[in-house]
Amino acid sequence: MNNLLENINVDLKKFAGYHKSNKVYHGKVPLTSPQNVLRNKVIELGGRKYQLKGSPGTGAFAKVYKASVDGNTEDLVALKIQKPPFPWEFYMYRQLDTRVSDIERPSFGYTHEVHVYADVSVLVCDYLPYGTLLDVINSHLVLERHMDEVLCIYYTIEMLRMLETLHSVGIIHGDFKPDNMLVCYPSGEITDETFKGETRSERNQGLCLVDWGRGIDLNLFPSGAEFYGDCRTSGFSCVEMQEQRAWTFQADTYGLCVIAHMMLHGTQMSIQKTPRPDGSYMYQPTTPFKRYWNVELWKNLFSTLLNATSNGSDAAVLRSLRMSFQEYLCSNRQLVGKLNQQLAKQKTSLCLS
Ligand SMILES: Nc1ncnc2c1ncn2[C@@H]1O[C@H](COP(=O)(O)OP(=O)(O)OP(=O)(O)O)[C@@H](O)[C@H]1O
Ligand SMILES: [Mg+2]
Repeated sequence: MNNLLENINVDLKKFAGYHKSNKVYHGKVPLTSPQNVLRNKVIELGGRKYQLKGSPGTGAFAKVYKASVDGNTEDLVALKIQKPPFPWEFYMYRQLDTRVSDIERPSFGYTHEVHVYADVSVLVCDYLPYGTLLDVINSHLVLERHMDEVLCIYYTIEMLRMLETLHSVGIIHGDFKPDNMLVCYPSGEITDETFKGETRSERNQGLCLVDWGRGIDLNLFPSGAEFYGDCRTSGFSCVEMQEQRAWTFQADTYGLCVIAHMMLHGTQMSIQKTPRPDGSYMYQPTTPFKRYWNVELWKNLFSTLLNATSNGSDAAVLRSLRMSFQEYLCSNRQLVGKLNQQLAKQKTSLCLS
């Protein structure tokens, strides 16, 4: 373990944007002040002035602020302030920069720099203005409406693509939940061509995955390594974690199932375990699917991902699931039209709220 940490420290110093000081943060306004004190204050980091605007989110250890840079109201960033300091997330972002292809890279957020002090660290990231997938799910719940199936399919394709990309380069996100997915809107109308092609384009990007603090870099471990233990938010721990068994990619794929379930049913997923003749168990969601959904697609998604073993990469399985959803979307012209309508409606209603 000590070796691992030493290697990472050597790597960190080499990365562009890594700024480390052994002193505590000495700016005029302490970074750990309550949110109401920090609002509209200007803080200085690495020669730049950041004016803190609002606060899109607060977690257990981190506070995230929207900020403008050097008085330019068009240049917006998200500042993630963490106490105690936590440079790991920056390490994960730089691994994404080197390992993920240019075409897939926008799905995972960008960081410009990190400032690490003795007491606190600040990560400077691109700011995305449209809220999270959790906001989208909640906006339907307050109206007591379910998300349209076509939207659930679209976001499921996005998530399958993300995990296929990450897992094939030896990265586990480790905190795959809807408040870590920032919503994006495609620059133009989505056409069925965008789902026929193999590569993504900004014309169909709908999500951006952030919060890499629990990310796992499999390259730091011997090949075939598996993990034990459960540090997940309740409701997102995979069955292996719940049953104290070894896990790898299931940490993320279980999260994907929970999110798909939240979108479809508006509730957290509960799992039922059915014995098989060979003594093993079959895992599936307890709540049945609605008859008018495309039941076969969803059944296949949940039964495949909830029963996946830790046997090597799951990228091929994720790809074939994604293709089944994409083929369905392209099978009927009206579906893609409906998707565009639903996205336009969602964007208007969430941006006005
Ligand atoms: N780049 C960004 N642009 C806009 N909003 C963001 C951005 N990054 C984070 N947010 C918002 O801030 C919230 C918290 O950010 P994040 O998930 O990174 O931290 P956290 O959950 O507090 O971290 P931790 O899990 O380490 O406690 C997110 O759920 C999202 O609402
Ligand atoms: Mg988070």
